[in-house]
Amino acid sequence: MSAGPRIAPSILSADFGRLADEVAAVTEAGADWIHLDVMDGHFVPNLTFGPKIVAAVRRASPLPFDAHLMVSRPDDWVQAFRDAGADSITVHAEASLHLHRTIQNVKQTGARVGVSLNPHTPLDVLDYVLDDLDLVLLMSVNPGFGGQSFIPQTLRKITALRKMIDARGLDVDIQVDGGVNTRTVFDVARAGADVFVAGSAVFGAPPYAAAISALRDLARKGLEARSAEDDASVGA
Ligand code: DX5
Ligand code: ZN
Repeated sequence: MSAGPRIAPSILSADFGRLADEVAAVTEAGADWIHLDVMDGHFVPNLTFGPKIVAAVRRASPLPFDAHLMVSRPDDWVQAFRDAGADSITVHAEASLHLHRTIQNVKQTGARVGVSLNPHTPLDVLDYVLDDLDLVLLMSVNPGFGGQSFIPQTLRKITALRKMIDARGLDVDIQVDGGVNTRTVFDVARAGADVFVAGSAVFGAPPYAAAISALRDLARKGLEARSAEDDASVGA
């Protein structure tokens, strides 16, 4: 919140033949984090890349590397992605039978820990783990592919999560992933998100610097609108 909106380009929409150059280019263009979509062809119907690719592109940027593990057995992969240079590791609640243990496994590596929820998954699953988290990633599309349309019901989920986090006085980032673009980012920010993943809205909309700053400006306006609404409700 106080850090301002952070824009995390997803390299899923980058040119994979020039991945290191693409990571360097969005770094130069003002990205805040590099979002890494790891898919195993099992938890989601697509395959992307593993730790070796992450380690190879790690040298292209000093920015935080944000690994989003869309894999069925996240515990098997946590240490490998940490060793490859991930600064934060996000696992799906739906993929872990023992989510509390998985979260502790990530924390033990020294990485920031996130939990992601698919669009249909209720916030209730976070109730007894939220205090342990650094971020919650709310999927606003069904995971697996870039370029899908934002699912509008996500907005009230973001609002509800923001209330939950604020009510507990926690410092947990709300990251939103899927269909975030210049048409949706204002509402996503106004609902209470602070980290915005954007794949096609950055890599599909060059020049990257203009794309990133357009998203950040709209997100900032959305956050300001939320603060104004909060102030008005306190004053009411
Ligand atoms: C979807 C991935 C997203 C995706 C976002 O499974 O987790 O990060 O790449 O792409 P856009 O921004 O194009 O919806
Ligand atoms: Zn993602």
